[in-house]
Amino acid sequence: MTDPLIAITNLSKVYPMGQTTVQALRGISLTIHRGEFVALMGPSGSGKTTLLHLLGCLDRPSTGQYRLAGQELSTLSVTELAEMRNRHIGFIFQSFNLLPRLTALENVCLPLLYRPQAGHVSEQGMAVLEQVGLADRATHRPTELSGGQQQRVAIARALVTDPSLILADEPTGNLDSQTGAEIMALLGALHARGRTLVLVTHDQDLAAQAETTPPAAPAAPDGARTGEASPAGDDHGTPNINPLSLRTLQQRTEMQRSI
Ligand SMILES: Nc1ncnc2c1ncn2[C@@H]1O[C@H](COP(=O)(O)OP(=O)(O)OP(=O)(O)O)[C@@H](O)[C@H]1O
Ligand SMILES: [Mg+2]
Repeated sequence: MTDPLIAITNLSKVYPMGQTTVQALRGISLTIHRGEFVALMGPSGSGKTTLLHLLGCLDRPSTGQYRLAGQELSTLSVTELAEMRNRHIGFIFQSFNLLPRLTALENVCLPLLYRPQAGHVSEQGMAVLEQVGLADRATHRPTELSGGQQQRVAIARALVTDPSLILADEPTGNLDSQTGAEIMALLGALHARGRTLVLVTHDQDLAAQAETTPPAAPAAPDGARTGEASPAGDDHGTPNINPLSLRTLQQRTEMQRSI
């Protein structure tokens, strides 16, 4: 078995809040292999977004280890962490997070501007806009696009650096069910082309799909498993033919008085 793309061990996150602290994550261990499509579920406040931000190098854990593509991240500087993010990760948010003054194409090209040798930025941007079916909206600003189109622009922005890992935090949460299904189909197609996806979702249908698929004996090359993110370490579950695997965060957030 090859090295996992993501290996986190005993990860915790504590937010200081004046005289108190919020323990958002407590001892999470989780392994995700290349090519997996993982649905991350859990009650509101269980730490899903916090975990996704840590996975996406947008924030640092309070304790614990995180290895991404074989690299231990705790020793990296802020700049090195940003480079790691730019090289490996595309992020998709529930509220799209597009810059309102920029056109669709300019929004998509933004991550390339942080690269030393970005090459033909506009061509690369147009290529991914075409992939999401929005080449004809390249000059539109976000307010001139529908919600589904804005999310497709955000997906194109996540794809433009050709990341191996895509993290999506409730990407269909602000969309009607038909448009949400279209976005899920797009994410499914990205997974089919070999990308690793971690999707935070409240969608019970997706969870049911992941839970009801019977285990298959041989591990599929795309490695898909069900299992729980458990505080106890290894979460290797049974190999599963379903391309979507499910991890749940059942912990409750704790507020504590800081010492
Ligand atoms: N920047 C912050 N400062 C202090 N507390 C925070 C911060 N961000 C999150 N929290 C707290 O950490 C806990 C986990 O929050 P998080 O946003 O990760 O939950 P979630 O599982 O994504 O919830 P939801 O399903 O509602 O989006 C919550 O109790 C929240 O109030
Ligand atoms: Mg959240």
